[in-house]
Parts: sequence; C-alpha cells; structure tokens
Amino acid sequence: MAKYTVITMPGDGIGNQVLPESLRVLKAVGFDAEYIHADIGWDCWRAQGNALPDRTIELLTKHKLGLFGAITSKPNKAAQAELKPELQGKGYVYYSPIVTMRQKFNLDICMRPCVGFTGNPLNYIRKKVGGGFGEPGFDEPKIDTTVFRQGTEGMYAGVEWTNPPENVRAALNSHPRFKAFASLPGPELAVSCRIITRKAAQRIVTAAFEYAKKRGFKGVTICEKPNVVRETSGMMEEVAKEVAKNYPGIALWSTNIDAQLMWLNKNPEEYNVIVSSNLFGDILSDAFAGLVGGLGFAASGNIGDDVAVFEPTHGSAPKYAELNPPIVNPIAMVLSAAMMLDHVGEDQNANRIRRAIADVVREGKVRTYDMMRFTGGPKAISQGAASTVQMTDAILEKLK
Ligand code: NAI
Ligand code: MG
Repeated sequence: MAKYTVITMPGDGIGNQVLPESLRVLKAVGFDAEYIHADIGWDCWRAQGNALPDRTIELLTKHKLGLFGAITSKPNKAAQAELKPELQGKGYVYYSPIVTMRQKFNLDICMRPCVGFTGNPLNYIRKKVGGGFGEPGFDEPKIDTTVFRQGTEGMYAGVEWTNPPENVRAALNSHPRFKAFASLPGPELAVSCRIITRKAAQRIVTAAFEYAKKRGFKGVTICEKPNVVRETSGMMEEVAKEVAKNYPGIALWSTNIDAQLMWLNKNPEEYNVIVSSNLFGDILSDAFAGLVGGLGFAASGNIGDDVAVFEPTHGSAPKYAELNPPIVNPIAMVLSAAMMLDHVGEDQNANRIRRAIADVVREGKVRTYDMMRFTGGPKAISQGAASTVQMTDAILEKLK
C-alpha cells in the first residue's frame, strides 16, 4: 500500500492540463502515493446543481490531502442559465467550490509563496540611481515573499445581502454611522460583512511566525488598515502583537494595505513574510506574484488542522483549455505539488523539485509562452514557446 493517498481534482479548463503534469513530477521524485480522482467544478454544477459533490467531500474527509487544478465560476445569471433544464428554477444557488472547501474543512491557513527564480524574464526589475536605458542600469531584487492569507473569514465570509431583510436593517440602524444610509430603499443597498474572529486571527498569525522561524527570517509584516477599519483590522493587529510576544527573535512590522501596494515597487525584497485577512491577502498575493512571473508561477496551499489542499492560484483560463498541444505554464501547479511535499514532511523532495525548476528557468532554453511575453494562442508554439508538456519534460530532465 502507498504511504499517502492524494485526492486529485483537476476541475475545469487548464486544470486538466496542468494537474497531470504535477503528477509526473511527483512520480519522478519517488513520492509514494496513490491518486484518486474526484470531480469538482462547472460540469458538476450543471449536472447536479452543486460544484463540490458529496463524493469529493467524503474522499477529502477520509484521505486529508488534495491537489486541485482550477475551476470555472460565472456570475449568478449565467450559472442559472447553464444548469441542466430539469434543475432550473428549483432554487439551486452556485457557490464557488474552492471557497466552500476552505470553509467546510476550515482550511484557514492560505499560504502563497512568491519567490523569484533567477533568469525568469518576467522578474521585476528596477532602475538604479543614475541608471538609464541600453546600459546595465537596473537591478533585479531577490524576491522571496510568502503571503499568509486568512482563508475562511473576512470579506469572503459570505454574509451579505442586497436589499437586506428588515431585522438586518434594524441591526444596521442601531449603529450611529448607518444614519447616512438609513433612508435608502432596500434594492438600492448592498451590504457585505467583514468578519474576523480572534481564534482565526491567532492561527494565521502564528502560522506566519512559525514559517519565519523555520526559514530564519527577521520579521513578519501584518498588513491591514486598522486606522480606518478599526474593528476587524484592529483585531488582526492586536492579535499579531500578542502572538509576536511568543517569538522574541522575530520582529513584527505593520503596514497598511494601500501603502504596502505602493512599497511593492520600491522595496519588495524587504518583505519575506506577510500576514493578512482574506481579501487583502488575496490582493497582496496576486500583486507579489506579478513581480515573480505572474500566474504561471503562483502556487498556494490551503491548510487546515486536518485536511490540506494545494493549488495554483490561477483559474481555468478557458480560452486556452482547448489548445492542442496545451501551452500554459505548469510551474505554478508543480510548485503547488512541492508545497504538498513540504506539508507531509518530505522537504527534501520538495526542494529537489524547486531546484529543478530553478535550473530550467536559469538555463532559459525551455520557456512557455508567458515567459516569452507572447500573446497566448495557437501560434505560441510555432513562435518558439515550449508546450506545457515540454516544460514538464525539462523539469524531469533536471531531476534525473
Ligand atoms: P485565469 O487565471 O484563468 O486566467 C487569466 C489569464 O492568466 C489567462 O488568460 C492567461 O493569460 C494567464 N494564465 C493563467 N494561468 C496560466 C498559466 N498556468 N500559464 C500561463 N498563463 C496563465 O483567470 P480568469 O481568466 O480571470 O478566469 C477564468 C476562470 O477561472 C473564471 O471562471 C474564474 O472564475 C476562474 N478562476 C478560478 C480560480 C480557481 O480555480 N482557484 C482562480 C481564478 C479564477
Ligand atoms: Mg485570487
């Protein structure tokens, strides 16, 4: 019997192209696992009115380890229109299966590393003082940032209304600041609640500090907006200060989300570990990913006490899903699989994979269309881009 059982959920679109590539890499490093396929995503929604089928939930509950590709979501009206006719008008509501999965299994630690590989033409560069064009007047900061994003609460808690019911309006009316909105007719009013619990805040901040300790980083940055969003960002910051006391050798720095996005271009290399609530963390991790190659390089883990699911942060990219050969970059998915190895304690194999990717990128002979700055499409291959499979082949070659 294999040591691990991994539930593989390719999902929609390019999820089906990149997930199998990550399995080739896991096999190459000798990861002792059995893989069980599970359905998730748009086809499940259309056929069952549920994008996260019960069987998938049961498998994850039992085996606790998942690899996920990507899903397609669409706005409410489009979702309803695409339900199979027998299910239409029966009150089915589309929920994103990945958000549901995070909430169902309390996958509250969302970890998103954004690490630059030397030689990636997509890496962020900045002008030196006195530097100009056509001369070596630029530097390329070494970016190694991991964003710890709270994965289950905040603005994505899902407690929201357009035209809130009377009892909700009554509660809102009890707040003096709601006076400015009190006379609006219901349909003119939309409300989303930002919910932060002390316990979840403690867990995400602790995960960030533990990671900083493991990697030997000097500080952790809490990125919120406590001067304006006083209650929820205030609680995040207060908890961060409490947790920091348990880590005397690691500093706690504090930034505001708006300023942090400005500093992104100024000194990104100074931020190794950033912790944030759900929406801010989502924004921050995409912003940092943009400095190290974008969606083709952005891996993530959704980690709970019991279950953990690893996924690239990109979506299903439907416009590329039908291309043959596939052209998208499998590196984000492969890096996500490496994070799964970290999670189960197989750090050495995880590092082997990351080194193999680093070698391929440094060498620069095999590059997918995104790394060539080509427009994605059927022509990319004839223009000289590597296919999805060729990129994996190159990684496998380095693992030999
Ligand atoms: P997307 O991430 O699917 O694609 C945006 C663009 O990024 C693509 O057109 C492509 O140019 C590039 N890209 C994405 N992955 C790439 C890769 N591996 N290699 C090279 N280039 C890559 O986001 P989009 O177009 O906004 O959404 C498409 C669908 O995916 C939507 O239905 C959306 O709801 C869903 N989505 C799902 C996510 C998930 O499963 N976690 C996350 C984001 C979007
Ligand atoms: Mg996102």
